[in-house]
Amino acid sequence: MRFDVLTLFPEMFPGYLGQSLLNLAIERGLVEINLHNIRDWSKGKHQQVDDRPFGGGPGMVLRVDTVVEGVEAVQAQGARPGRLLLLTPQGKRLDQAQVEELSRCERLVLLCGRYEGFDERIHEILKPEEISIGDYVLNGGEVAAMVVIDAVVRLVPGVLGDEASHRADSFSGAERLLDFAQYTRPREYRGHVVPEVLLSGNHPEIARWRYEQSLARTRERRADLLNREPPEATQPNPNS
Ligand code: ADE
Repeated sequence: MRFDVLTLFPEMFPGYLGQSLLNLAIERGLVEINLHNIRDWSKGKHQQVDDRPFGGGPGMVLRVDTVVEGVEAVQAQGARPGRLLLLTPQGKRLDQAQVEELSRCERLVLLCGRYEGFDERIHEILKPEEISIGDYVLNGGEVAAMVVIDAVVRLVPGVLGDEASHRADSFSGAERLLDFAQYTRPREYRGHVVPEVLLSGNHPEIARWRYEQSLARTRERRADLLNREPPEATQPNPNS
């Protein structure tokens, strides 16, 4: 799977990209991540990528010419154009169903904003899908782009050591429940003990306990998940 990231701060990414799971996926050729500096498409000797908003107001706005030409040039670098995602708090809130859908794409192009936003004509011309990672405002789209890459990459076949492990994650599968509690050694620590059932060796009983745990946790912390229709992409396929 190929990612292209357009950003004014490509130097924010290498530390994150070097972390073990992602680095391994890149080394094994499962994932390719190309970073592009939007400034490379700026005009004039000052390499200005933004300007004051028409009509006045605070802050700076990313220029339409620079961004459109940058995205078009990057799209032309691949065999086929990728799905264009723009990271912005104005976007549709990312969830696991959308992550699953994105993981089936061959190529994603992520456009990160800074400053007060993008010239509206960037939206009109490029028609990107707008994605938000939550209802709060970050200083720019870079951290949000890393979140998208991180969540998507772990669903690319072969990236996770244990293929089944992400299916057991919170939010995966048709039934969107939070994870059950996990324990490892020691069996007792400062008076806190591991639930007896997990030491019993009775696997049907353990499975039931875990399911009930997940359900209770979800009801207590995220009741909204229980009242939601499972998204189409994750409904069990009756033919498989
Ligand atoms: N850029 C700034 N805030 C953001 C958010 N919450 N999600 C995605 N991109 C952003």
